[in-house]
Amino acid sequence: MTTSPKTAIILGTGLGQLASEITDTCEFPYKDIPNFPVSTVEGHAGKLIFGKLGGKDIMAMEGRFHFYEGYNMKEVTFPIRVMYELGIQTLFVSNASGGMNPKFKIGDLMIIDDHINLFPEHPLRGKNFPTGPRFPDMHEAYNLQLRNLADTIAREKGIRVVHGTYVGVQGPTFETPHEYRMYHLLGGDAVGMSTVPEVIVACHCGIKVFGLSVITDLGGFDAPVEVSHEEVQEAANAAQPKMTEIMREMISRS
Ligand code: HPA
Repeated sequence: MTTSPKTAIILGTGLGQLASEITDTCEFPYKDIPNFPVSTVEGHAGKLIFGKLGGKDIMAMEGRFHFYEGYNMKEVTFPIRVMYELGIQTLFVSNASGGMNPKFKIGDLMIIDDHINLFPEHPLRGKNFPTGPRFPDMHEAYNLQLRNLADTIAREKGIRVVHGTYVGVQGPTFETPHEYRMYHLLGGDAVGMSTVPEVIVACHCGIKVFGLSVITDLGGFDAPVEVSHEEVQEAANAAQPKMTEIMREMISRS
């Protein structure tokens, strides 16, 4: 089989189901790829899947690396370097996040318009890779045309979407009530523990990015509410069909 995908997908929270829709697959476990980080968690081995989705050659990353797991930023973003070397031009990412915008509801899908990077280490720190400039521009980290396309698709399908700025933090704690409030004051609409490092490296490689976040919990309002991983997982699973539908359509039309 030969394949030359221009499109990559990180199957983050809320998108796992999409993996089963990929046909003509060829899979590479991370452990078989030189220098690829390997998950230490049993049953979360992770793999790159090459195949077809929506009539397109694609590659998908099943299992991503989070900074809170102990990986350094070079490891977290290594898969994006591999995507670049393979000729990827567009990257689709998903994640789960806590909503701080009072207009948001649990289960909403947020089109990521921009991000605020609050990770303690920068993925581009160190010797500059020749894929991009030393001081990369970030004025449109999330491609405007793709965001507009997502709006069109959501409208056609009658799916409610919201827009906002994603605040990327290291975790693994969820936020205290005042942290949620602070991130909202800073201009954030949702907060989560992934995506930002990968998007920064994708931008540095000239890869266009589209990001969709499922709002799994809410924080920063009058009465503090408890947040649990189970609740996040449950809300993400419930939103999965909407998320999958938008992403599938985005991939086939972009
Ligand atoms: N905070 C950080 N990360 C998250 C949250 C949150 O509230 N929800 C899902 N991921």
